[in-house]
Amino acid sequence: MAVHPEPPLPRLDGERLLAQLAELGAVGADDSGGRTRIALTDTDKAGRDLLVSWMRELELEVRIDRIGNLFGTLPGGAAGTPALMLGSHIDSVANAGALDGCYGVLAGLAVVRAFREAGIEPLRPITVAAFTNEEGVRYQPDMLGSLVYAGGLPVEQALDIVGSDGSRLGDELRRIGYAGDLEPGGIPVHEYLELHIEQGPVLEAEDLQIGVVENLQGISWQQVTVRGHANHAGTTPTRLRYDAGLVAATIVQQLRLIADESGTTLATVGCMRFEPNLINVIPRLASFSVDLRDPDEQRLQSVERRLQGYLASLAEHRGVQIDSQFLARTRPVVFDGELVEAIESAARRLGLSHRRMTSGAGHDAQMIARIAPAAMIFVPSRGGISHNPRESTDDDQLLAGARLLLDLVVDRLGAARPAQHRPAVGEMPALPAPATAAPLELLLNPHAVHAGYPTELRALMNIAQAGQDRARLAGWAELSPRATPLWSLPDLAARLGIARLCIKDESLRSPLASFKALGAPIALVRLILRRFPAQDFDAASLLAGEHRSRLAGFTVVSATDGNHGRALAAAARSIGCDCVIVLHAQVSEERERAIAAYGAQVRRIAGNYDDSVEEAASLALAYGWQVVADTSWEGYEEIPRDVMQGYGIIAEEVIETAGVDAYTHIILQGGVGGLAAGIASYYWERCGASRPTLLVVEPSQADCLYQSALAGEPARATGSVDSVMAGLACGATSPLAWRFLDGSIDAFLKVEDADAVAAMGVLAAGSARDIPVIAGESGAAGLAGLLRLLAEPELAALLGLDANARVLLINTEGATAPSVYEALVGEPVASVLARQRDWAAANLGR
Ligand SMILES: Cc1ncc(COP(=O)(O)O)c(C=O)c1O
Repeated sequence: MAVHPEPPLPRLDGERLLAQLAELGAVGADDSGGRTRIALTDTDKAGRDLLVSWMRELELEVRIDRIGNLFGTLPGGAAGTPALMLGSHIDSVANAGALDGCYGVLAGLAVVRAFREAGIEPLRPITVAAFTNEEGVRYQPDMLGSLVYAGGLPVEQALDIVGSDGSRLGDELRRIGYAGDLEPGGIPVHEYLELHIEQGPVLEAEDLQIGVVENLQGISWQQVTVRGHANHAGTTPTRLRYDAGLVAATIVQQLRLIADESGTTLATVGCMRFEPNLINVIPRLASFSVDLRDPDEQRLQSVERRLQGYLASLAEHRGVQIDSQFLARTRPVVFDGELVEAIESAARRLGLSHRRMTSGAGHDAQMIARIAPAAMIFVPSRGGISHNPRESTDDDQLLAGARLLLDLVVDRLGAARPAQHRPAVGEMPALPAPATAAPLELLLNPHAVHAGYPTELRALMNIAQAGQDRARLAGWAELSPRATPLWSLPDLAARLGIARLCIKDESLRSPLASFKALGAPIALVRLILRRFPAQDFDAASLLAGEHRSRLAGFTVVSATDGNHGRALAAAARSIGCDCVIVLHAQVSEERERAIAAYGAQVRRIAGNYDDSVEEAASLALAYGWQVVADTSWEGYEEIPRDVMQGYGIIAEEVIETAGVDAYTHIILQGGVGGLAAGIASYYWERCGASRPTLLVVEPSQADCLYQSALAGEPARATGSVDSVMAGLACGATSPLAWRFLDGSIDAFLKVEDADAVAAMGVLAAGSARDIPVIAGESGAAGLAGLLRLLAEPELAALLGLDANARVLLINTEGATAPSVYEALVGEPVASVLARQRDWAAANLGR
């Protein structure tokens, strides 16, 4: 097999980007912390000079067009190949912040630098653009440079524009030395991307890293003038007044009603002037601006019409004259759908939280969208503030946006990584063959339905409750404050011949290293809140241990095969109650020590998991303890319901990060069925009949869910109930979980221990584009099932697992028993972790 050295991938130099933002931000600085670089003034010239010097440093081809737009191009591809353009502007309003516009230009430069430093020539040119007079402070209209570039205004006409200070634009351009000779539009644009600060509060309010801008509002500006009669404030009775001020105020009020009814339209009256503007005179005249915005042209037009109709009837009714005059009008812009999706995919690839959004402000991208596919990326603005020295975005958010831009450019110019360096799928190491020659045991569930979520199930578990649980657990110190990563594994997907493969990495949920950190803790909190209703407990103060003295003597007990007990012990320690954990013979000593480390009393019994469940129940009966189990039995459902509901948080995060229809298939591990039920119920409620295909994988010797599907009711496993996949080694289905699984799981399949071990190795190995993932024995079972299925094309076809399949796996645990992990994978956990970190540093810049 040919071995090709991997070339370095383009890497973002984040420090340099931040330093350049600061340096450009210092040009035109004033004492108040702001800076002023109004278009074509001396400070704008100084900013341009600096930018040009940085472009030259990178040996870019610098060109200036006749309207002063500035371009630096990294060559690539055959002569005349249209460029991928990255741009924005560096002119500013008065007393501005340092980021508006400059961020997009300098991030573009950072992308080009990354290509230069990696020694990679892109397949098409990458052009960094800084457009003239975006702000429109001195010369109107705003976004002038990009408008001219896109052919929306003849350059001669633009050069003749007279500014607010009486200067002619063309003269000022020449004076500062930026009247170039390139015809506007002279660099053909293949695609255009603009990275920008949001300049609004949405991303910050929703704690998201990236805004995927899919459209930009249309804007309608008018000046409305109301003419009534001035008269004495004291002598004129109300019924005889023609009060222009009152009519103006009525219109402002009505505009709000019109906006509310439209739902999407924004309406603002920003300036108002009265004549004669005296305290004791009824206004003769009121003149005010109306700013209407909507992402939908039809709605915008309809609001404009409603306003006109209202003005006419009000004039008649109040006996005044009302005129309105259009000042400016731009249509909404819908950005290129494919680019928008590409931005979204890049955000997912990098694990950046994101949402689609509408740009409330105008940007150069809307002009370039007239001549090329264009889209924008937003990063949060602190406090939503912009056009102000207090405009600010955290460095890590700025860098996340720039990393995304780089990733996107690498993706768009895929072959920019010299093709011969990227191993073809056939050249990658072969995937492990199935561990057994025996045919795969797959059971299509005859009871599975694709229909709405049943009301009786909704009464037990629902999305609203999952959200509430998430909020309750949010402050727990043992949990990662962020969503766990959703890694995309494009190389593995290619090797498997499916469209997409992602894995939600619950190993990073908490130091407990498994998804179980979501179950027992929330169940314990909810139990205590129910048990002590008279106390002033809430989740946050409980988990912070503020009520430990009042909970002394309250003891919880549970059986476990490792992870659930560890999570319960951790929660009990945080809350300050006593905890007893019952372990069966097969639970490793390492897992026992991990539980004991949280201060729980551990009791060992002979027998298997089911025996330990019984032992925990009889201990509770004998000592008056409270069982907090992850499985249910007759008369014991409330707590396991709470445990399962907590797992719904995983589904919620996946949908938030990837979107609701990102996956066609989800493969879930099955122990007693709680994990699968928690996630299936969420998707079922959310998607109804169009839910993804849901599959459950179990060890062949602990197949209680498979047997339940066969029997059509909760059943026991047929095998020894002893598996290397310790978390899945359960002999009896949880009857409560089964109520959710019966109708939602499309197929059940069994895997061998060796399949799981092989899958652990595949995930640990990683590849050029796949991060190495630390998956424990049960964590890797989903991939084990997928590998087995795809090795049997006829079965895979039955389930629609084909080239279009987009599959989600859940890595339910990391190396929860490190020595077992090392023995099975053949590499210490620390070493896989180091490779994971290196990969992340090289590819995600973190
Ligand atoms: C790592 C891991 N994955 C999956 C499962 C299966 O969860 P459930 O028993 O709720 O089906 C468990 C259960 O303990 C587990 O520990």
